[in-house]
Amino acid sequence: VDGKGVLNNRISEHIFTHLNQIGIPTHFIRRLNMREQLIREVEIIPLEVVVRNVAAGSLSQRLGIPEGELLPRSIIEFYYKKDELDDPMVSEEHITAFGWASPPEIDDIMSLAVRINDFLSGLFLGVGIRLVDFKIELGRLFEGDMMRIVLADEISPDSCRLWDIKTDEKMDKDRFRRDMGGLLEAYREVANRLGIMNEN
Ligand code: TMP
Repeated sequence: VDGKGVLNNRISEHIFTHLNQIGIPTHFIRRLNMREQLIREVEIIPLEVVVRNVAAGSLSQRLGIPEGELLPRSIIEFYYKKDELDDPMVSEEHITAFGWASPPEIDDIMSLAVRINDFLSGLFLGVGIRLVDFKIELGRLFEGDMMRIVLADEISPDSCRLWDIKTDEKMDKDRFRRDMGGLLEAYREVANRLGIMNEN
């Protein structure tokens, strides 16, 4: 979709910059231009970590919970990053048994996921958007003898479900997944509300 990458680059920059500022470690250094970022090289952990606040998508399908129902608490899920297998859901047992991450690393990942969820929920709520769910990826950053887990990849309307707080209108990739149209307009609206397109 023409122009989506430029918007995602700006939105992800905005989010990662704020996360860095509140002490959540990320791979992000700075945006270089319209389409590129300078980042720290990390060893990607082969997991997609999904945090859910409201039932939607595969959770609704799998468990028969109506889309839009507020969950009793935020839920963290793990998916094994393997395109050929369609990224199957896995448990901590699989992750530790197959050595994709260690138990202390899983603890770090979960506490980062909770902090990121708290921050993002507030950020979006402040601009009239409900953060339904989102996906993150993490990596190992090696600095001398030290290693720490940092947030990597991107956070954008491609990797979040964002609903308008008043109308429940979808402002994310579901517009594409569900053939609803208006994808670019929705991403532009997210960027506008976050106040990051003013200079252009
Ligand atoms: P799901 O309901 O399809 O499992 O998606 C949960 C969240 O994760 C949703 O915000 C979309 C995001 N996601 C990705 O970013 N990449 C993916 O490959 C998948 C399956 C979901």
